[in-house]
Amino acid sequence: MEIDWPELRAAAADVAGRAYAPYSRLRVGAAGLTADGLVVTGCNVENASFGLTLCAECGLVSALHATPPARPGDTPPVLVAVAVVAGDGAALLPCGRCRQLLLEAGGPPLLVDTADGPVPLSELLPAAFGGADLSARREPGAAAAP
Ligand code: THU
Repeated sequence: MEIDWPELRAAAADVAGRAYAPYSRLRVGAAGLTADGLVVTGCNVENASFGLTLCAECGLVSALHATPPARPGDTPPVLVAVAVVAGDGAALLPCGRCRQLLLEAGGPPLLVDTADGPVPLSELLPAAFGGADLSARREPGAAAAP
């Protein structure tokens, strides 16, 4: 599908303007395009208890799951492209935790924007841990993975 990267970057820059980042003063915005053509966004939200900070990508993935399916009964939307930018509009690479989070929202082919252009998530998170590792290695009797 056609990905309008300038539009995605602009959506990320727009939502970065609404970030709550009084402690680091690094505003971050993330915008993702779903396979259905929807754009979902998130911004970072900090807290005086620093460890509670939510990255912009966390907000984006939450918004993705909060988005109702296009048709009743459809599976949850899947991300195909993501742009993450700082408050100055420059591309920002997702942190390690967010790469792992994005993996379950878009899979290894998810295109992630970088300063040098979009790359598949599999390049940013090679040899990733995933749900298949749980299924393959967990002890018998453990709760089922989604
Ligand atoms: N941050 C994000 O929102 N996403 C990332 O991938 C990296 C870091 C935020 C968290 C915190 O509010 C600020 O950037 C400084 O780490």
